[in-house]
Amino acid sequence: MSENSTERTQARYDRIAPIYDALEVGIERLAFRHWRNELWDHIEGEHVLEVGVGTGKNVPYHPAGVWVAGIDVSAPMLQRARDRVAARSPQQVDHRAGDAGLAQMDAERLGFPEDAFDAAVATFVFCSVPDAVRGLKEVNRVVRPGGRVLLLEHVRVNAPVIGPLMDLLDPVALRLMGPHINRRTVANVTEAGLEIERVEELAPGGLVKLIFARSPDSGPSTSRGGGPAGRNDP
Ligand SMILES: C[S@@+](CC[C@H](N)C(=O)[O-])C[C@H]1O[C@@H](n2cnc3c(N)ncnc32)[C@H](O)[C@@H]1O
Repeated sequence: MSENSTERTQARYDRIAPIYDALEVGIERLAFRHWRNELWDHIEGEHVLEVGVGTGKNVPYHPAGVWVAGIDVSAPMLQRARDRVAARSPQQVDHRAGDAGLAQMDAERLGFPEDAFDAAVATFVFCSVPDAVRGLKEVNRVVRPGGRVLLLEHVRVNAPVIGPLMDLLDPVALRLMGPHINRRTVANVTEAGLEIERVEELAPGGLVKLIFARSPDSGPSTSRGGGPAGRNDP
């Protein structure tokens, strides 16, 4: 994936940052908050990477006692996440939220050593990362062998009419909103060398999925990222 695509993605989110939370307020209350809660309830370990932390919508769900490193390519989105961390009440900090450190970084080029994290999380991110497989390979590289990778993602619906329609409308959605609407994220997770544990379908037609994966335990036949960039789907 070219630098140019990442720059374009970054520019889109830079522009949308001031209104991002307002755009999602309805769907956040209706659905996203329940799904975030479920995802973070399944986190294991003390050092967790959150890829594409955005405006910090997951911050209230970060478990107590867990150190979360949040990265995002967009500085204005990150600034909102910083504000959110700073605005947490002492009660939230004590009872729910862990200690989040935030940095501007490209998911396709993570500045962390191998096996740096016990687990990784991303919510609605691998629809936007230009080369999703490359980003997921990076996640695989920095999560320790056997560490959990939890993804909440909207994906391409695998149905005769709707699927091709999503393919058709994808360039428009990309330009107007920022994310791709036709990503095959479960396949991308596998292609990146991660092992799928299970996939929960959260919305009709499998439009939104909670993907439970793990970085494979090291062994001669396993691949833990660092290889050439993967398929740029679709
Ligand atoms: C749809 S938003 C989701 C934000 C947040 N995770 C949430 O649940 O609200 C996608 C986020 O991914 C970030 N992003 C896109 N491509 C990225 C990349 N290559 N590296 C890091 N972050 C990226 C965007 O800047 C944006 O903040």
